Parts: sequence; C-alpha cells; structure tokens
Amino acid sequence: MFLFLYSGGMKKISLTGIKPTGILHIGNYFGAIKPALKLAEEYDARYFIADYHALNTMKNPKELSATIREVAAGWLAAGLDPEKVIFYRQSSVPETFELTTILMAFTAKGLLNRAHAYKAAVQENSEKGEDPDAGINMGLFTYPVLMAADILLFDSDVVPVGQDQGQHVEMAQDIARAINFNYKAELLRVPEASIQEHVAVMPGLDGRKMSKSYNNIIPLFAPEKQLRQLIMRIVTNSQGVEEPKDPDASLIYLLYKLFASAEEQQALAARYRAGGMGWGDAKEELFRVANRELSPLRERFEHIIADIPRLDATLARGAERARSIAAQTVDRLRRATGIA
Ligand code: TRP
Repeated sequence: MFLFLYSGGMKKISLTGIKPTGILHIGNYFGAIKPALKLAEEYDARYFIADYHALNTMKNPKELSATIREVAAGWLAAGLDPEKVIFYRQSSVPETFELTTILMAFTAKGLLNRAHAYKAAVQENSEKGEDPDAGINMGLFTYPVLMAADILLFDSDVVPVGQDQGQHVEMAQDIARAINFNYKAELLRVPEASIQEHVAVMPGLDGRKMSKSYNNIIPLFAPEKQLRQLIMRIVTNSQGVEEPKDPDASLIYLLYKLFASAEEQQALAARYRAGGMGWGDAKEELFRVANRELSPLRERFEHIIADIPRLDATLARGAERARSIAAQTVDRLRRATGIA
C-alpha cells in the first residue's frame, strides 16, 4: 500500500506557467488567460511567470526583464487577483531548481530525446544539413524536467495548457510515478493536463494560427489607433458590398464572435447573409466590440506597468507564499531520498 504524503487541501489545485517570450496577444487572452482565470474561481490557483524557461531563447537582458513585467502586468490587468491566486516568478522560488536536480536522477535521457520541441529542432537542423545539435542548448533539452519541477512542487491536480504542452505534462506524470514507485510512497501528486482545445485554432490576421512568429497578432494592449489599423488590414476576398456572405467562412466574423454577445452575433450573421454589407462595415463592427472589451484592460495595464516597484512587490509576496509550500515538497523528497 502507498502512503499519501502530500498535503491534501479542500480545494483542488490548478497550476500553470506563462513563458514571457513576447507581448501578450488576443490569442493568449482567449486561449490561455481567460480559461485559467475561470479555473481560478473553482480551484486553488498557482500561476507563475516561467522566466527561466524564457532564458533558453531570450538572451537580451533588457528585453527579458521588460517582457517579464509586461506579461505579469497583463495577467493582473486581465483580472488575476493576487490575493486569491498565488502569483509569482519561477526564479523567485529556488526550491524549483533543487527539485529539478532530484527529478533529473529519475528522468530517462530517452524520454527527453522524444520531446516534440527538441525533436523538431533536431529535424530542422538535419533538413538544413547541419549538425543535429546545432543551436540546441541544454535548457531546451531539459525543458520538460524544469517544467515537471514547476508542476510537482505544488501538488498540482490540473495544469491548464495549450495542446503543444500536453506531452510535457505527460512527462511530469512519468517522472512523478517513477519517484513514487521507487520509494513506495505517494511523494508526488500525479497531475492531469487540462487542454485548452481552441488555442490551436485561434486565427491571426492572415487566417493562420495567431502567433508572434507569423507576425499576424493583435496585441492585447494595442492602443486604440493601432487596434483599428490592424483590424482594417485583415485580408478579405473580393465579394462586393451587395453580395450575400457566409459568416462562418469569414475571419472577421470569427474574431467578432470572441467579443460579441449572442444577440450581436446573430444580428451580424443576418447582415452577412442578407447582402448589402461590405467588408469595411464588418470590420467597423469588429473594432467596436473589440475595443469595448479591450479598453478597460488597456487602461488597467497602463496603470500597473507605470509602477514597477509595486508590481515587483506583488510578485514577491506571491513568491513568499509559493516558497512555503515548495519548501515542504523539497523537504519531503530530501528525506525520502536519504539526502536529508
Ligand atoms: N512550457 C509552457 C509554455 O511554453 C510554460 C510552462 C513552464 C508551464 N512551466 C510550466 C506550463 C508548468 C504549465 C505548467 O507555455
């Protein structure tokens, strides 16, 4: 029989990491931020800025430091309540890195060889005729172990992530099970991913997935003027004003649905089908509802980002709460392993 050694609170625990590698866009907002904040109503939530994960790709200190603050301010502006959610920076919880070292001893190298992100990098190299390991650092290779430590440190039950992160959560499960099996005790809680299905299909301005690398994003905090310009730049087909149009085949309508009420959606769909509405009008409607939802967010963001010391203090308080939980996990593992 297994002994259950981790703390069992009343509420289940939801945990996710946010990699600060670029400015937040509306794909992040609808695909990750909103669903995670919704989960936080029901779960004990622990959300953190995965700044050491970002270091793998971001080597410019000014840029990394600014992005960390922008992303943190963005989540607060979107409604994260730091009194309710434990909100912190990964780098402020050094127990993460001690647990990573422990997990390493239980992680098969072959497991990491199979990680999608690493395999894709190797494949890209071989397609270019380069050395398979060209440009690949150990941070990328061991990325899933650090992520497993993030998760396992906090007795997480559910991990809300995009589809691309599902494999990483499975690896965290594998590693937790290997440790529990070896010590014949339930030392680490085995987490479940909560996959946000629609993240993958969030369309960008050109109809492809919204992504910084496609240069097709709508920044979440774009000034009003830029928001309008970006929407006006959406590529449409050559249907004339009078022609009836299919709302479900229209990127403008797809984006409109994210921001509009059910009645508004029906009304605009009817105008599409009736004909007599040009693409310019549809874009105006989209701008109106997008700006309605995003203006208050933008204002809160500007307010928060204008006071970095206060923002840092908020994150430091979160880190303090996080560390008191993390210390217990590491202590449990140190004893179980015989290190303590
Ligand atoms: N790898 C995640 C991403 O790129 C970020 C992340 C780091 C994470 N640690 C985590 C997500 C722990 C969930 C749980 O999006």
